[in-house]
Amino acid sequence: MTQTITPLIAGNWKMNGLRQSLLEVEKLAAKLTAGEPPRCTVALCPPATLINAMNRIAAPAGIVLGGQDCSAEASGAHTGDLSAPMLADAGAQMVIVGHSERRADHGETDEMVRQKAIAALTSGLTPIICVGETRAQREAGEADAVVSRQLAASVPDQAAEHDVVIAYEPVWAIGTGLTPTSADIAQMHKSLRDQLISRFGGRGEGMRLLYGGSLKPGNAKEILAIANVNGGLVGGASLLADDFTAIIWAV
Ligand code: PGA
Repeated sequence: MTQTITPLIAGNWKMNGLRQSLLEVEKLAAKLTAGEPPRCTVALCPPATLINAMNRIAAPAGIVLGGQDCSAEASGAHTGDLSAPMLADAGAQMVIVGHSERRADHGETDEMVRQKAIAALTSGLTPIICVGETRAQREAGEADAVVSRQLAASVPDQAAEHDVVIAYEPVWAIGTGLTPTSADIAQMHKSLRDQLISRFGGRGEGMRLLYGGSLKPGNAKEILAIANVNGGLVGGASLLADDFTAIIWAV
């Protein structure tokens, strides 16, 4: 069943990117349209300031855009926040929620992440819900328990009827050049898949499970071939068209 899932390679630009960075997206779009179509959905999650302008370059090349976070509220007195309807209005079709940097920098809890995922679904956006353990939690043998708890509490019941994506991102692998062994990734993704199936039945079989954390051209082929890895969430390597396309072609 998992073989029928169309993989997703999503780039997370984090707090990087000015208008001049659109040149890199032009390069990416040219590469993706020059040869055979990619065997995956390709998405970019730039800073929200670039979504609208980037979409004009990305959409004709089949690249989907996403936000990096959204408020749980649709509108109102929340200075500095962005709502899911705003992201959708700007051209986004997806939104990352619960990234470990937001959990750490903004104290986002599983419950807040769940509310954000609901807001995304309500606006027709596909949430990319992030989970992952810290180095200390892995060393204490708690990785499985922590990630299971995050999955159970961050994924809303509404996922039973809508498209949601789960990204397993070990916090210690993000931006460090470190990655878990293939066996560890396989084991975690199998456990995530089993939990999704036991909660959502057939729906859980089809949900995309991304791996994220130092995914690079050099390790993409091996990691993306692991069972139950249906694509990747790519930080640093998504900023350069050459690196990002190398990962896309590795699918
Ligand atoms: P990285 O980031 O690829 O730079 O490790 C991944 C992420 O945080 O989504």
